[in-house]
Amino acid sequence: MGMKTKTKDQLIRELDEASRTIRGYEEAERYRRRDERDGSAPERKLRGGLYIVQDGKFRHINHYVLKISGYSREELIGRDPMNFVHPDDRRMVMENTKKHLRGDHPVSCVFRFVAKDGAIRWIDEIVRKTKYEGKTAILGNVAEVTERVASREKQEELETIEASILAAIPHAVIGLRDRRITFTNNGVKTVFGWDEDELIGKSIRILYRTDTDYEKMAGLYSKLKRRRTAGDEVSCRRKDGTDIECRVNASRIGDSLEDKQIVITYEDVTEQERAKEELEYSRQQLRDLSVHLQSLRERESARIARELHDELGQLLTALNMDLVMLERKIPPGQIDLVKRAESSIKLVGMTMNGLKRICMDLRPGMLDHLGLPAAIRWQTEEFQKRSGIQSRLSIKPEEFSVSSDLSTTLFRIFQETLTNIMRHSEATEVVVHLKKTREKVELVVSDNGKGISPEDRHKINSFGLIGMRERVYYCGGTVSISGRPGRGTTVKVDIPFQKSGDRK
Ligand SMILES: Nc1ncnc2c1ncn2[C@@H]1O[C@H](COP(=O)(O)OP(=O)(O)OP(=O)(O)O)[C@@H](O)[C@H]1O
Ligand SMILES: [Mg+2]
Repeated sequence: MGMKTKTKDQLIRELDEASRTIRGYEEAERYRRRDERDGSAPERKLRGGLYIVQDGKFRHINHYVLKISGYSREELIGRDPMNFVHPDDRRMVMENTKKHLRGDHPVSCVFRFVAKDGAIRWIDEIVRKTKYEGKTAILGNVAEVTERVASREKQEELETIEASILAAIPHAVIGLRDRRITFTNNGVKTVFGWDEDELIGKSIRILYRTDTDYEKMAGLYSKLKRRRTAGDEVSCRRKDGTDIECRVNASRIGDSLEDKQIVITYEDVTEQERAKEELEYSRQQLRDLSVHLQSLRERESARIARELHDELGQLLTALNMDLVMLERKIPPGQIDLVKRAESSIKLVGMTMNGLKRICMDLRPGMLDHLGLPAAIRWQTEEFQKRSGIQSRLSIKPEEFSVSSDLSTTLFRIFQETLTNIMRHSEATEVVVHLKKTREKVELVVSDNGKGISPEDRHKINSFGLIGMRERVYYCGGTVSISGRPGRGTTVKVDIPFQKSGDRK
């Protein structure tokens, strides 16, 4: 029988038949069946591409190939298929084709194909020998896999990014599945002294000092049931046996904790913790020292006040009595002498008053004898007299008593506040409130001056406010100093009784 030209549909069916054994063609078969059911032309619905090459030229091309290439059938038939393969992949495709034609089991080849619009498409191809119009030909079966390749590239890119993120994190990063280590970064070397690979597959227990610390870590797991991330501080052990403090952050992988996968970062904070403790310790020492110095100063002032009062006071009293006696003995007619004596007596009186004031400043005797309200009243009057600044005072209740330490603290703070007002505020008016309740003593001093600025509150060589804060801190109270430009300054001190244990 001579050669008979086949119809296109016949050809497609045959090709279809022939390539059924080719991997990936089952799907094409499924489509074909559905096409037959729907009664539409089988070729157009074939998902896989089919072509026949004979003597190095396209002889037949199905619709799928036209679609992915963008060319018309006329543009392809009679052309060398290699023209459409990406130049970089031609060699590989050629060799693969040869191999396929020799071998029994076709293996697919993935290469790049240049479409009519210049777009690059990834193609997965299998070829095998066939007969076409009685002559040897190549039957090619192709499928476009551009998306698959792109997503694999994306995946690889993501993996590279992940790897560099892991490497860039200065802490140890550890991935866990069911408490076994599944991945790490090179930070585990710095933090724990382990090599990355040494830890894979081990239980996370190896990083902890004791079972208790390990269990503490288990607490993180339960937190992760409700939250995405959780953190804690935990004691860990390095490979060399030394203990370190780590700040730990855990986060679950995925939306739930069902497959028990989490990733944990460990930051070695041993040094930070030590530095923090040392800082806190030396701060406490400074506070103790300042309290000690203040009480020394109070005692020293009290001693000087007492001595001035006792020694100079008595001498002045004696001098006064002598002068009075002398004055009486002046013979009549000596007006000059009498005047002299009178002014001397007056001078002695003034000296005695001055001395009293100095003694009061050094150690307000009133604090001990008459209590805080009286001392505050006296100090306010003195202040008004000396500075000329209008001073209003309210004390509630009018009289009360608190411990000697607390009186001293509040009185010294009051003195410093008034001194500051006189020196810095340019105020014309001061309002003072002193109030004792069941819970606390409160002292508020406001002026109407220029207002303290935030920078003023932290001047390097100013110790008034620092001393105030330290005294209040020592009593367990709080102090707030606020100012508004041109609207004055307010100093508010609160000292609760419970905290200082100072209640009378
Ligand atoms: N009532 C006030 N009005 C305006 N500025 C004030 C007032 N009180 C304090 N200041 C500002 O706050 C700064 C700090 O006050 P602080 O009492 O600590 O130090 P000082 O009075 O300057 O020096 P000292 O150590 O002698 O007390 C002052 O220098 C001043 O600029
Ligand atoms: Mg001051």
